[in-house]
Amino acid sequence: MAAAGEPPEDAATDFGVLAEAALARREFLEKTVGFGIAAFVLGAAAPAPAGDAPTRLGFKAVPANGLDTVTVPEGYSWHIVARWGDPLWSDGPAFDPATRGTGASQERAVGDNNDGMALFTDGPRSILAVNNEYVNRSIFYGGPGGTGRPRNADDVRKGKAGHGVSIFEIADAGGRWSIVQNSPYNRRITADTPMQITGPARGHDLLKTAADPSGTRSLGTWNNCGNGRTPWGTYLACEENFNGYFSSSDPAWEIPAELRRYGLRRRDRGYGWAHADERFDLARHPNEPNRAGYVVEIDPLDPASTPRKRTALGRFKHENAEVVVAGDGRVVVYMGDDERGEFLYKFISRGRYVAGGYNADLLETGELFAARFEDGGRGRWLALTPAATGLASEAEICVHTRQAASAVRATTMDRPEWVAANPTKAEVYCCLTNNRHRGRKPNAGGDATPVGGPNPRAANIYGQIVRWTPDGGDHLANGFRWDLFAVAGNPAVHADLRAGSKNITPANMFNSPDGLAFSAGGLIWIQTDGNYSNTGDFAGHGNNQMLVGDPSTGEVRRFMVGPRECEVTGTAWSTDRRTLFVGIQHPGERGHSHFPDGGDNPPRSSVIAITRDDGGRIG
Ligand code: FEO
Ligand code: CA
Ligand code: CA
Ligand code: CA
Repeated sequence: MAAAGEPPEDAATDFGVLAEAALARREFLEKTVGFGIAAFVLGAAAPAPAGDAPTRLGFKAVPANGLDTVTVPEGYSWHIVARWGDPLWSDGPAFDPATRGTGASQERAVGDNNDGMALFTDGPRSILAVNNEYVNRSIFYGGPGGTGRPRNADDVRKGKAGHGVSIFEIADAGGRWSIVQNSPYNRRITADTPMQITGPARGHDLLKTAADPSGTRSLGTWNNCGNGRTPWGTYLACEENFNGYFSSSDPAWEIPAELRRYGLRRRDRGYGWAHADERFDLARHPNEPNRAGYVVEIDPLDPASTPRKRTALGRFKHENAEVVVAGDGRVVVYMGDDERGEFLYKFISRGRYVAGGYNADLLETGELFAARFEDGGRGRWLALTPAATGLASEAEICVHTRQAASAVRATTMDRPEWVAANPTKAEVYCCLTNNRHRGRKPNAGGDATPVGGPNPRAANIYGQIVRWTPDGGDHLANGFRWDLFAVAGNPAVHADLRAGSKNITPANMFNSPDGLAFSAGGLIWIQTDGNYSNTGDFAGHGNNQMLVGDPSTGEVRRFMVGPRECEVTGTAWSTDRRTLFVGIQHPGERGHSHFPDGGDNPPRSSVIAITRDDGGRIG
């Protein structure tokens, strides 16, 4: 049953209508795909459009591969910095590949599935903050006697400690970075760490629970996906698929529509937390999920500080939080909601950033917007206010943010993942990773997902990268111009829109762009979380990977290939820009990797360091 406003899937059978629509779309795509749609539309075989311009990507491209290791360009090297289960303190046991740890050992060690990260410095010291998005149950609870599920309360304790954020000092000795055990900066934040709830929703009835009748203090953060880094030196951990940890002890419990919109179900995704911690039991504590789905601000240099959930930045399945400072000092945060047909958001702080001043509360109050992309390459930000959304208060908008954005008819997107702002000019990019429901199914709120605009392909299996330039080069502006920087595809298999844009070739093709970050020089680094089958529609794509793009020429070159069944996610640069830290998440998630230790060892998510053999800067 199609939602209101969406034609039933089989309605458009009139050939004339389809042909007309196809022609209009073709003209439209030629205007809005920055580097051209490939052969099918423009009638040209399509090498990278670098033309006569000298390339800024001065490394030899890495071919796609299916190896169980990391591959970097000639003249570059990599090494392991930290792995799941590495103890942060010397009193912790080394990782045990048989048991894979206990609740107690996991609380003192690097969490699982590292994702977004950022590097901070305190004088000469380097401190890495790393999200631990989730745990790979089959590996985490694998080994002899393991079932891939928690079997007792200690297994749940271990699971909750496998999540959250790991903060640890790292040091470079002879060109190899490693964890500094017992550093005063080392800290584990888990699903049980006390947090302050701040901003408009603090103390609202929707956030009150039996354990916290004030609605101001919650425990823990989990499913922290991408991240942000503020100019005042704090780390932003973004709560994404927070829903999968809740379940209902009452099999007949009716799930309210407000929770259904966020994917809450009576069953969890196998984590079993409600069996050991009743706050995850929806039937008993239905407001608990209203206390997750936020951006959490953490002071990485003060292990005694209380993390702050910033409700002003909205509640949804946050991917990352890209922070820029506007000309007048107000702070702008761009954020994606990674779910099929959900939205792209922008926050503008009320207060202003002053270098060296008091900036601790800038994410406490401000305005929230959702994006509408219009045809012709224009778009605008729609304010999420009570008047515009019909929601009762600012607090409610900060809890039911998806519903607010639906009410103003923001554009349903192909799963907005990371957003990255170019440090050398006012332009912003976002990975739209894929969306098999595009043109076929509405989002969870019933909003139609029509094909068009920055989401140009039905049943989109490859993804694309949209970018926009705020009017007047001002991130505070309401209007923007947009185009598509890259439309991923497979030009070796397809000759239609699935071939992708002209800057995608058999030599650099990939699918499902996800992680995204700019290096200081203005090159864009693209990481993938896609189909690594290397067959059919994905033949020639190989393992997940990292590529570099030049925003001005559209050139895209593959820089790195990850090990089997991993996702490549998370980037950070050392202060001298001579080391690039990259996250290797869930290698062997389907049982076919022993990265990084080889032999019979279980695979372990890891942070790696990449350096140039000539000691030069990267990016
Ligand atoms: Fe955790 Fe949207 O990736
Ligand atoms: Ca991930
Ligand atoms: Ca991601
Ligand atoms: Ca993803």
